[in-house]
Amino acid sequence: MKIFKSIDDWKIYRAGLQESPLGFVPTMGALHPGHLSLVEASLARDVVTVVSVFINPKQFDDKADFEAYPADDGKDVEILEKAGVAAVLLPDTAQIYADDYRFKVSEAEFSRRLCGAHRPGHFDGVLTVVMRLLNLVRPDNAYFGEKDYQQLQLIHDMVSAFFMPVNIVACKTVREADGLAMSSRNQRLNSRQRALAAGFYATLKSSRTVTEASQTLADLGFSVDYVEDIANRRLAAVQLGNTRLIDNVEI
Ligand code: PAF
Repeated sequence: MKIFKSIDDWKIYRAGLQESPLGFVPTMGALHPGHLSLVEASLARDVVTVVSVFINPKQFDDKADFEAYPADDGKDVEILEKAGVAAVLLPDTAQIYADDYRFKVSEAEFSRRLCGAHRPGHFDGVLTVVMRLLNLVRPDNAYFGEKDYQQLQLIHDMVSAFFMPVNIVACKTVREADGLAMSSRNQRLNSRQRALAAGFYATLKSSRTVTEASQTLADLGFSVDYVEDIANRRLAAVQLGNTRLIDNVEI
């Protein structure tokens, strides 16, 4: 497996890559089985699979949240090597934002709702880094999880709006045995919060209305950011202590 810390080295390697299709899985590291399901989807479909590990500071509206985000590049690299990935990109902030974030992608409607209403600037940061990474990697297929449903929709719409030549592949949410959606943030839950967290998914699924879901989650001890039904999905975000959890279910 090739490891690239330098974007210039990556560009040289990419220019010489003949094999296709090329699959790309962008991540912020702290890899878990949810990420691995994206990697496996690419390994099954693409000749070359590339993964990036970059904790994007521009998508954190809260400095403390950014600083507490779990990071272990060594372990991530080991996991990816074992999985059979061809190349890993580990760029730093100075290379990704050499322009000092003078240029960014901004969406004016859907990104302001749901998570965007609670995390100002979050989706500008996500869309900007995803566009930069897609332009660097130039994949045929790029893989994103349905757990981040609003993110997935926005990336899908951005790629279409800017005529970007990449196919966005949506992958099912991977869950723990008790239903909790896998997330790098789960490791920040203490044992009491972790036990409680299972009630998030169960409540979203079993409640008849968003009002009932919000009330039940509050009664269970969650601080509810939002629960909304959009088309055939119920999307929600809650806080347990300092940890924010998001999830969505089909309704
Ligand atoms: O879903 C994530 O992990 C991040 O938002 C992404 C897509 C890697 C962009 O930083």
